[in-house]
Amino acid sequence: MKEVIIEGLGKYTPSNLVTNDQLSEIIDTSDEWIYSRTGIKSRYISKGENTSDMAAKAGEKALENANISPLDVDLLIVATCTPDMFTPSTACIVQSIIGTDNALAFDISAACSGFIYGLDVAKAMIGSNNYKHALVIGAENLSKSLDWEDRSTCVLFGDGAGAAVLSKSDNIGLISSFCKSVGEKYECLTIGGNDVDSPFVESKIIRDSKLRMDGGEIFKFAISVIVNSINKILEENNLDINDIDYIIPHQANVRIIQYAAKKLKVDIDKFYMNMEEYGNTSGASIPIALSDMNEKGLLKKDSKIILVGFGAGLTYGATLINWAI
Ligand code: COA
Repeated sequence: MKEVIIEGLGKYTPSNLVTNDQLSEIIDTSDEWIYSRTGIKSRYISKGENTSDMAAKAGEKALENANISPLDVDLLIVATCTPDMFTPSTACIVQSIIGTDNALAFDISAACSGFIYGLDVAKAMIGSNNYKHALVIGAENLSKSLDWEDRSTCVLFGDGAGAAVLSKSDNIGLISSFCKSVGEKYECLTIGGNDVDSPFVESKIIRDSKLRMDGGEIFKFAISVIVNSINKILEENNLDINDIDYIIPHQANVRIIQYAAKKLKVDIDKFYMNMEEYGNTSGASIPIALSDMNEKGLLKKDSKIILVGFGAGLTYGATLINWAI
């Protein structure tokens, strides 16, 4: 068995659905402004659940969907930019909740591209080790890192988690992928860490622990990397855009997808979108979308799907999938 397939999917969101109108009661904004600029109408906001709690619930659902016991998981990866703690990894906390006692567990920090990076790393590790099953989870509690007085960012994001079980197989599943980062633009989107301070530091460096973003720069970056990543993956696999059944983009903003679709000369309906309900859930957005599509019966055997992500780092990447089950 040389191939890797996605064998199960799951998602979890907190029950607290917050509409644009509800936000306009807290900050100076409106449903009209948010929806017309982003395509977002609501988002789920945690009332106390942390990233690991949501990750574990999505992971358990994916295992159930794949009919695989937690003890059969060899590798557990959590993609997140909002970990519970600096250390241990969120993946180790999730391991303790769901009991994947035979797995090695670690986090990937690639923000909204994290799930794409996670699939790539899991596939490589399954291929080079004696692993049969990996659980890859994208999970975020972004609401704890937002500045709720900054209307240009707090309206965009939501909390949640999505998960996929990857299994070694004779069937073709994850066909190819392409991941890149552009570190020189790291300041475009940040969530700061601890202050740099100790008895040896003469003047304390105060870090901004809230999410800060250059929205315009990210907007341009996103369109360009969606188009380039999709073209590159098509070219590398000798495929035409018409061979693809669905493109599942990172769910940041409907206008980004509309521009990208226009540049690619592809019908917007080829892009699956659900940011209207969930907002931007960063590393969770692509696995939540995949899980939604699975629940709706949209993933048919041998469908060709491209996942494409972009985000803080800056990072980006795409994965070409043959839906194998
Ligand atoms: N409600 C009402 N007005 C708001 C607002 C809000 N939530 N947020 C910003 N505004 C105001 C601004 O203050 C500004 O007012 P001014 O002209 O009086 O100064 C005006 O709206 C326009 O702001 P601007 O930033 O130019 O809006 P925009 O049309 O560029 O849209 C984003 C802003 C954030 C929606 C857009 O840049 C974007 O989506 N970028 C990509 C962000 C993203 O997806 N990040 C995640 C990547 S993973």
